[in-house]
Amino acid sequence: MAFARLVACFVLYSSLGHIPSSLGVILRTTDKIVWANEFEPIELTCLIESISTNNPRIEWKKIKNGVPSYVYFQNKIAGDLEHRAQLREPANILIFNTTRSDTAEYRCEVAAIDDQRDFDEILISLAVRVKPVVPRCYVPEAVTVGTSTELRCLENEGFPAPHYRWFHNNEELPQDPKNSPKFVNSSYSINPDTGSLKFRRVRKDDAGEYYCQAMNDAGHAQCPEQTMEVYDIDILGIFLKSFGALLVFFCLAASICHSCKRGCFSKKGHNENK
Ligand SMILES: *[C@@H]1O[C@H](CO)[C@@H](O)[C@H](O)[C@H]1NC(C)=O
Ligand SMILES: *[C@@H]1O[C@H](CO)[C@@H](O)[C@H](O)[C@H]1NC(C)=O
Repeated sequence: MAFARLVACFVLYSSLGHIPSSLGVILRTTDKIVWANEFEPIELTCLIESISTNNPRIEWKKIKNGVPSYVYFQNKIAGDLEHRAQLREPANILIFNTTRSDTAEYRCEVAAIDDQRDFDEILISLAVRVKPVVPRCYVPEAVTVGTSTELRCLENEGFPAPHYRWFHNNEELPQDPKNSPKFVNSSYSINPDTGSLKFRRVRKDDAGEYYCQAMNDAGHAQCPEQTMEVYDIDILGIFLKSFGALLVFFCLAASICHSCKRGCFSKKGHNENK
């Protein structure tokens, strides 16, 4: 009988898993690493797993670049979060409208005077995603067939750092042209981390409208379209032009010579004319 009761007790004890010890304060959080989107609310959780003290002292600190500052102190939201957050049961902090400057570590500290283990703390790291703004794009206006060229795209606000995609006549350029029947003959390569679009040898078909898109988990933005023209090297044209220039030069030289000669021989006549 006594044995059966003991077994029942043991089973009950085991089924409860770990019974919160009333010996001390223990904190827990649902997420130690929290991502939030800028201008959206976020709640950092500080759950009290066990405590026997009635009115524990709760404090929150923000740690940025190793420097701690209070954001909840003496039962009030303070510092950077003043008027922008509230404390929620049991010890969570709710930021109404996050900004990029909220990216930091936050430490929840609970002191429970009547507990044997009278202090616990928990560290949460908050990262605020920032949407990219319109990237700055560089597209050369005109290039010659067969030469190399580079198109560039840069965005500095987005967090995490954005990735880049390029569009040609409103069609996304695949990362590797070899994988696409349409672009298989193009010599470009894209670096999605730096935003560079490089052509080893520009073809006629590479001419057109280009724009670039910067994107991260928070969103995307793109620059306005710009035109890149591709010119043939016009060999006949170059020949005719240089030939023409040469012809003009000889004519000029000949006529100068001619008038010079005439001038030399008939200086007298010249003076008479005057
Ligand atoms: C959050 O803050 C930004 C800038 O301070 C503001 O433009 C925006 O309207 C705010 N959003 C909300 C939901 O309050
Ligand atoms: C690519 O080049 C090959 C060989 O010159 C040609 O047959 C093919 O039509 C070209 N493809 C495109 C999409 O221009």
